[in-house]
Amino acid sequence: MTNIILLGPPGAGKGTQAKRLVDERQMVQLSTGDMLREARTSGTEMGKKVAAVMDAGHLVTDDIVVGLIEEKLLTEHPAGGFIFDGFPRTLKQADALGVVMAHVGQTLDAVIEIRVDDEVLKQRIVGRYTCGNCGAVYHDTNHPTKVAGVCDNCGATTMKRRADDTEEALRTRMLAYYRDTSPLIGYYYAKEQLSTVDGLAEMDAVAASVAKVLDKH
Ligand code: AP5
Repeated sequence: MTNIILLGPPGAGKGTQAKRLVDERQMVQLSTGDMLREARTSGTEMGKKVAAVMDAGHLVTDDIVVGLIEEKLLTEHPAGGFIFDGFPRTLKQADALGVVMAHVGQTLDAVIEIRVDDEVLKQRIVGRYTCGNCGAVYHDTNHPTKVAGVCDNCGATTMKRRADDTEEALRTRMLAYYRDTSPLIGYYYAKEQLSTVDGLAEMDAVAASVAKVLDKH
């Protein structure tokens, strides 16, 4: 069992690599972005507030996301381990994760930074679409479905684009990443938990680099 964090800016490929690990290693993906997108459809006051914050590209408060993660750690017991995707995103969240992991008797084994060139992020984000049924991630040019509009993975025909995948929201998301999240690179380096992979490589090559890190644990 291996518990890892995938760290990187919007569009680095965290979700893409997490989904491969779920398929290949019986790991469970804990994406706070996906959990919050689910919460926003609930129609509650909290869901509406979350939707406005996300669409503008700002971060949701630490208390909300830590609560979501804590609940999953208490209730899920994956054979392969947890993949934290998009969490933690602030130093406060990183400290909280350490406390919750200790509380549930788990350890964090590796933090994998997926490093990319900022210039590619816009192209990746504006071209992204996902399957509305199984969540498989595609791209208009980098990774289209084999049959237009039909998910390779589950055959569904409900493709979706995210409301925050606009150039304007991306600028805010990048600012949030560099202001609040990038300090985690130094934080986990100092804890001797950081590994870095080249996120500009082909998806298969990135997956091979991630696998190499996992195989060391
Ligand atoms: P979240 O859903 O976590 O989004 P994000 O971090 O901005 O990351 P993305 O999902 O955009 O990118 P990704 O790295 O997963 O890339 P992907 O694999 O899809 O968060 C959304 C919002 O929720 C936040 O802005 C915030 O409001 C809120 N939130 C979430 N967590 C929070 C937290 N902890 N605290 C506070 N607020 C929180 O790939 C992108 C595209 O590139 C795809 O089309 C893919 O096909 C393509 N691609 C991937 N890899 C490659 C490759 N190697 N080569 C070519 N193309 C590639």
